Amino acid sequence: MFTNILLAASLAIQASATIKPISVGRDGLTFDPSSTTAAIGDIIEFRFWARNHSVVSGHFTQACVPTSRGGFFSGFVPTAPGARNDTVFRVTINNTEPIVFYCPQNTGSHCKNGMVGTINAVTGRGVDYYKSLAANASMAVSPSNVFGGVLVLNPAPPNSSTTLTSTSTATTTSTFAGTGTTTGTTTGSGTAPPTTTATAGAGAKGASFVGVVGVVVAALVMA
Ligand SMILES: *[C@@H]1O[C@H](CO)[C@@H](O)[C@H](O)[C@H]1NC(C)=O
Ligand SMILES: *[C@@H]1O[C@H](CO)[C@@H](O)[C@H](O)[C@H]1NC(C)=O
Ligand SMILES: *[C@@H]1O[C@H](CO)[C@@H](O)[C@H](O)[C@H]1NC(C)=O
Ligand SMILES: *[C@@H]1O[C@H](CO)[C@@H](O)[C@H](O)[C@H]1NC(C)=O
Ligand SMILES: *[C@@H]1O[C@H](CO)[C@@H](O)[C@H](O)[C@H]1NC(C)=O
Repeated sequence: MFTNILLAASLAIQASATIKPISVGRDGLTFDPSSTTAAIGDIIEFRFWARNHSVVSGHFTQACVPTSRGGFFSGFVPTAPGARNDTVFRVTINNTEPIVFYCPQNTGSHCKNGMVGTINAVTGRGVDYYKSLAANASMAVSPSNVFGGVLVLNPAPPNSSTTLTSTSTATTTSTFAGTGTTTGTTTGSGTAPPTTTATAGAGAKGASFVGVVGVVVAALVMA
Protein backbone atom coordinates (compact mmCIF):
# COMPACT_ATOMS: atom_id res chain seq x y z
CA MET A 1 0.00 0.00 0.00
CA PHE A 2 1.70 3.11 -1.13
CA THR A 3 0.35 6.43 -2.13
CA ASN A 4 2.17 9.50 -3.06
CA ILE A 5 0.66 12.71 -4.18
CA LEU A 6 2.91 15.57 -4.94
CA LEU A 7 1.33 18.80 -5.91
CA ALA A 8 3.31 21.81 -6.77
CA ALA A 9 2.27 25.22 -7.84
CA SER A 10 4.42 28.16 -8.45
CA LEU A 11 3.56 31.68 -9.23
CA ALA A 12 5.98 34.24 -10.39
CA ILE A 13 5.21 37.79 -9.48
CA GLN A 14 6.98 40.73 -11.00
CA ALA A 15 9.46 42.41 -8.74
CA SER A 16 8.26 45.55 -6.98
CA ALA A 17 4.69 45.20 -8.19
CA THR A 18 2.32 47.48 -6.34
CA ILE A 19 -0.75 45.88 -4.87
CA LYS A 20 -3.83 48.06 -5.05
CA PRO A 21 -6.53 46.79 -2.72
CA ILE A 22 -10.23 47.12 -3.51
CA SER A 23 -12.70 46.19 -0.78
CA VAL A 24 -15.64 44.17 -2.02
CA GLY A 25 -18.86 44.66 -0.07
CA ARG A 26 -17.36 46.22 3.05
CA ASP A 27 -20.03 48.91 3.23
CA GLY A 28 -22.98 47.26 1.51
CA LEU A 29 -23.14 46.78 -2.24
CA THR A 30 -19.96 48.67 -3.05
CA PHE A 31 -16.42 48.38 -4.28
CA ASP A 32 -14.05 50.71 -2.40
CA PRO A 33 -12.49 52.49 -4.16
CA SER A 34 -15.01 52.14 -6.98
CA SER A 35 -12.72 54.02 -9.33
CA THR A 36 -9.00 53.59 -9.45
CA THR A 37 -6.00 53.93 -11.72
CA ALA A 38 -3.31 51.32 -12.20
CA ALA A 39 -0.08 51.10 -14.14
CA ILE A 40 1.05 48.15 -16.21
CA GLY A 41 2.35 45.49 -13.82
CA ASP A 42 0.29 46.68 -10.86
CA ILE A 43 -1.80 44.07 -9.10
CA ILE A 44 -5.40 44.82 -8.19
CA GLU A 45 -6.30 42.88 -5.07
CA PHE A 46 -10.00 42.33 -4.42
CA ARG A 47 -10.70 41.75 -0.71
CA PHE A 48 -14.05 40.16 0.03
CA TRP A 49 -16.32 41.13 2.88
CA ALA A 50 -19.60 39.70 4.15
CA ARG A 51 -22.30 38.18 1.95
CA ASN A 52 -21.46 36.25 -1.16
CA HIS A 53 -19.74 38.43 -3.72
CA SER A 54 -17.58 37.92 -6.75
CA VAL A 55 -16.05 40.21 -9.32
CA VAL A 56 -16.07 39.95 -13.10
CA SER A 57 -14.85 42.32 -15.78
CA GLY A 58 -17.57 43.67 -18.06
CA HIS A 59 -18.38 45.72 -21.18
CA PHE A 60 -18.70 49.47 -21.01
CA THR A 61 -21.63 49.31 -23.40
CA GLN A 62 -23.62 46.39 -22.02
CA ALA A 63 -23.98 46.29 -18.26
CA CYS A 64 -23.71 43.22 -16.04
CA VAL A 65 -22.42 41.00 -18.87
CA PRO A 66 -18.83 39.68 -18.91
CA THR A 67 -16.44 41.11 -21.45
CA SER A 68 -15.65 38.81 -24.33
CA ARG A 69 -12.05 40.04 -24.52
CA GLY A 70 -9.73 38.73 -21.80
CA GLY A 71 -10.63 40.02 -18.39
CA PHE A 72 -11.20 38.11 -15.18
CA PHE A 73 -13.68 36.39 -12.87
CA SER A 74 -12.96 35.62 -9.21
CA GLY A 75 -15.72 33.11 -8.57
CA PHE A 76 -17.96 33.61 -5.52
CA VAL A 77 -16.27 34.09 -2.15
CA PRO A 78 -18.99 33.70 0.49
CA THR A 79 -17.96 35.43 3.70
CA ALA A 80 -19.43 35.36 7.20
CA PRO A 81 -21.26 38.46 8.52
CA GLY A 82 -18.86 41.12 9.79
CA ALA A 83 -15.84 39.26 8.44
CA ARG A 84 -13.32 39.79 5.73
CA ASN A 85 -12.23 36.70 3.89
CA ASP A 86 -8.51 35.92 3.95
CA THR A 87 -8.86 34.75 0.36
CA VAL A 88 -8.22 37.60 -2.04
CA PHE A 89 -8.32 37.74 -5.83
CA ARG A 90 -5.34 39.29 -7.60
CA VAL A 91 -5.47 40.56 -11.15
CA THR A 92 -2.36 41.80 -12.91
CA ILE A 93 -2.84 44.87 -15.07
CA ASN A 94 -1.36 44.25 -18.53
CA ASN A 95 -2.24 47.48 -20.27
CA THR A 96 -3.89 50.81 -19.52
CA GLU A 97 -7.15 50.15 -21.35
CA PRO A 98 -10.19 51.07 -19.29
CA ILE A 99 -11.67 48.18 -17.30
CA VAL A 100 -15.13 48.02 -15.80
CA PHE A 101 -16.14 45.30 -13.34
CA TYR A 102 -19.23 44.29 -11.39
CA CYS A 103 -20.49 41.80 -8.82
CA PRO A 104 -22.71 39.29 -10.65
CA GLN A 105 -24.60 38.13 -7.53
CA ASN A 106 -28.28 38.04 -8.54
CA THR A 107 -29.58 37.43 -5.02
CA GLY A 108 -30.09 41.09 -4.15
CA SER A 109 -29.28 42.23 -7.74
CA HIS A 110 -25.82 43.50 -6.84
CA CYS A 111 -24.88 44.79 -10.31
CA LYS A 112 -28.24 46.44 -10.96
CA ASN A 113 -27.98 48.08 -7.54
CA GLY A 114 -24.70 49.71 -8.44
CA MET A 115 -22.05 47.28 -7.23
CA VAL A 116 -19.66 48.20 -10.03
CA GLY A 117 -16.23 49.76 -10.40
CA THR A 118 -13.65 50.92 -12.91
CA ILE A 119 -9.90 50.90 -13.46
CA ASN A 120 -8.31 53.55 -15.69
CA ALA A 121 -11.71 54.81 -16.82
CA VAL A 122 -11.99 57.69 -19.27
CA THR A 123 -14.16 60.77 -18.85
CA GLY A 124 -17.81 60.05 -19.54
CA ARG A 125 -17.36 56.30 -19.19
CA GLY A 126 -16.92 56.00 -15.46
CA VAL A 127 -18.69 54.41 -12.54
CA ASP A 128 -21.76 56.67 -12.71
CA TYR A 129 -22.22 55.99 -16.42
CA TYR A 130 -21.99 52.24 -15.88
CA LYS A 131 -24.32 52.40 -12.89
CA SER A 132 -26.97 54.06 -15.03
CA LEU A 133 -26.64 51.27 -17.61
CA ALA A 134 -26.69 48.63 -14.87
CA ALA A 135 -29.86 50.05 -13.37
CA ASN A 136 -31.62 48.88 -16.53
CA ALA A 137 -30.04 45.44 -16.66
CA SER A 138 -32.16 42.45 -15.76
CA MET A 139 -29.98 39.51 -14.68
CA ALA A 140 -26.24 39.77 -14.16
CA VAL A 141 -24.18 37.11 -15.93
CA SER A 142 -21.31 35.16 -14.29
CA PRO A 143 -18.76 33.12 -16.19
CA SER A 144 -18.65 29.48 -15.12
CA ASN A 145 -15.00 29.34 -14.09
CA VAL A 146 -12.46 31.50 -12.31
CA PHE A 147 -10.00 33.07 -14.75
CA GLY A 148 -7.74 36.06 -15.35
CA GLY A 149 -6.37 36.26 -11.81
CA VAL A 150 -5.36 34.19 -8.81
CA LEU A 151 -7.13 33.45 -5.53
CA VAL A 152 -4.52 33.60 -2.77
CA LEU A 153 -4.45 33.97 1.00
CA ASN A 154 -3.61 37.42 2.27
CA PRO A 155 -4.92 38.31 5.70
CA ALA A 156 -3.41 41.81 5.47
CA PRO A 157 -5.20 44.62 7.28
CA PRO A 158 -8.16 45.86 5.24
CA ASN A 159 -6.86 49.28 4.25
CA SER A 160 -3.21 48.52 3.74
CA SER A 161 -1.63 48.77 0.37
CA THR A 162 1.20 46.40 -0.12
CA THR A 163 4.29 46.28 -2.26
CA LEU A 164 5.63 42.94 -3.30
CA THR A 165 9.39 42.97 -3.40
CA SER A 166 9.86 39.26 -3.87
CA THR A 167 9.95 37.54 -7.19
CA SER A 168 8.60 34.13 -6.45
CA THR A 169 6.19 32.11 -4.39
CA ALA A 170 6.02 28.36 -4.34
CA THR A 171 4.02 25.87 -2.35
CA THR A 172 4.50 22.15 -2.18
CA THR A 173 2.13 19.72 -0.59
CA SER A 174 3.08 16.09 -0.15
CA THR A 175 0.92 13.28 1.13
CA PHE A 176 2.33 9.93 2.11
CA ALA A 177 0.33 6.93 3.24
CA GLY A 178 1.48 3.45 4.13
CA THR A 179 4.97 2.09 3.84
CA GLY A 180 7.66 3.26 1.53
CA THR A 181 10.00 6.05 0.68
CA THR A 182 9.10 8.98 -1.46
CA THR A 183 11.09 11.94 -2.56
CA GLY A 184 9.56 15.00 -4.12
CA THR A 185 11.38 17.99 -5.47
CA THR A 186 9.84 21.21 -6.57
CA THR A 187 11.60 24.11 -8.07
CA GLY A 188 9.90 27.46 -8.52
CA SER A 189 10.94 30.38 -10.62
CA GLY A 190 12.50 33.57 -9.41
CA THR A 191 15.77 34.85 -8.13
CA ALA A 192 15.92 32.36 -5.28
CA PRO A 193 14.44 29.14 -6.61
CA PRO A 194 12.85 27.29 -3.69
CA THR A 195 13.69 23.61 -3.50
CA THR A 196 11.88 21.19 -1.30
CA THR A 197 12.72 17.60 -0.63
CA ALA A 198 10.42 15.52 1.50
CA THR A 199 11.03 11.95 2.57
CA ALA A 200 8.65 9.65 4.36
CA GLY A 201 10.22 6.62 5.92
CA ALA A 202 8.72 3.25 6.63
CA GLY A 203 5.49 3.73 8.50
CA ALA A 204 2.91 1.41 9.92
CA LYS A 205 0.55 0.09 7.33
CA GLY A 206 -2.39 2.44 6.97
CA ALA A 207 -0.67 5.20 8.86
CA SER A 208 -0.60 8.46 7.06
CA PHE A 209 1.65 11.39 7.12
CA VAL A 210 0.52 14.62 5.63
CA GLY A 211 3.21 17.14 5.23
CA VAL A 212 2.69 20.61 3.99
CA VAL A 213 6.06 21.89 3.01
CA GLY A 214 5.70 25.44 1.95
CA VAL A 215 8.52 27.51 0.69
CA VAL A 216 7.33 31.02 0.42
CA VAL A 217 9.93 33.46 -0.62
CA ALA A 218 7.89 36.58 -0.25
CA ALA A 219 8.74 39.77 1.48
CA LEU A 220 5.74 41.94 2.05
CA VAL A 221 6.42 45.54 2.74
CA MET A 222 3.48 47.33 4.18
CA ALA A 223 3.22 50.78 2.69
C1 LIG B 1 -22.90 32.18 -3.61
O1 LIG B 1 -23.55 32.67 -4.76
C2 LIG B 1 -23.47 31.82 -5.88
C3 LIG B 1 -24.13 32.51 -7.07
O2 LIG B 1 -25.39 32.98 -6.75
C4 LIG B 1 -24.12 30.49 -5.55
O3 LIG B 1 -23.97 29.62 -6.65
C5 LIG B 1 -23.47 29.88 -4.33
O4 LIG B 1 -24.16 28.71 -3.95
C6 LIG B 1 -23.50 30.86 -3.17
N1 LIG B 1 -22.76 30.30 -2.05
C7 LIG B 1 -23.21 30.35 -0.78
C8 LIG B 1 -22.36 29.71 0.25
O5 LIG B 1 -24.27 30.91 -0.49
C1 LIG C 1 -13.88 32.53 2.81
O1 LIG C 1 -14.31 32.01 1.56
C2 LIG C 1 -14.29 30.60 1.51
C3 LIG C 1 -14.68 30.20 0.10
O2 LIG C 1 -13.80 30.79 -0.82
C4 LIG C 1 -15.24 30.04 2.56
O3 LIG C 1 -15.19 28.65 2.53
C5 LIG C 1 -14.85 30.57 3.93
O4 LIG C 1 -15.78 30.15 4.88
C6 LIG C 1 -14.80 32.08 3.92
N1 LIG C 1 -14.29 32.60 5.20
C7 LIG C 1 -15.00 33.41 6.00
C8 LIG C 1 -14.29 33.93 7.23
O5 LIG C 1 -16.15 33.74 5.79
C1 LIG D 1 -33.20 52.79 -18.85
O1 LIG D 1 -34.53 52.42 -19.23
C2 LIG D 1 -35.39 53.52 -19.28
C3 LIG D 1 -36.81 53.01 -19.54
O2 LIG D 1 -36.81 52.03 -20.55
C4 LIG D 1 -34.91 54.47 -20.40
O3 LIG D 1 -35.76 55.60 -20.46
C5 LIG D 1 -33.50 54.94 -20.09
O4 LIG D 1 -33.00 55.72 -21.17
C6 LIG D 1 -32.60 53.74 -19.89
N1 LIG D 1 -31.30 54.21 -19.40
C7 LIG D 1 -30.17 53.84 -19.98
C8 LIG D 1 -28.93 54.44 -19.41
O5 LIG D 1 -30.12 53.08 -20.93
C1 LIG E 1 -3.32 39.91 -17.98
O1 LIG E 1 -2.75 38.80 -18.65
C2 LIG E 1 -3.02 37.57 -18.00
C3 LIG E 1 -2.22 36.51 -18.72
O2 LIG E 1 -2.49 36.52 -20.08
C4 LIG E 1 -4.51 37.31 -18.04
O3 LIG E 1 -4.79 36.10 -17.40
C5 LIG E 1 -5.23 38.45 -17.35
O4 LIG E 1 -6.61 38.27 -17.48
C6 LIG E 1 -4.84 39.77 -17.94
N1 LIG E 1 -5.37 40.86 -17.13
C7 LIG E 1 -6.44 41.55 -17.47
C8 LIG E 1 -6.84 42.64 -16.54
O5 LIG E 1 -7.08 41.33 -18.49
C1 LIG F 1 -10.68 51.53 6.32
O1 LIG F 1 -11.35 52.37 5.38
C2 LIG F 1 -12.76 52.44 5.59
C3 LIG F 1 -13.41 53.23 4.47
O2 LIG F 1 -12.49 53.94 3.71
C4 LIG F 1 -13.03 53.07 6.96
O3 LIG F 1 -14.41 53.11 7.17
C5 LIG F 1 -12.37 52.22 8.02
O4 LIG F 1 -12.53 52.83 9.27
C6 LIG F 1 -10.89 52.04 7.74
N1 LIG F 1 -10.34 51.08 8.69
C7 LIG F 1 -9.18 51.28 9.30
C8 LIG F 1 -8.75 50.19 10.23
O5 LIG F 1 -8.50 52.27 9.12
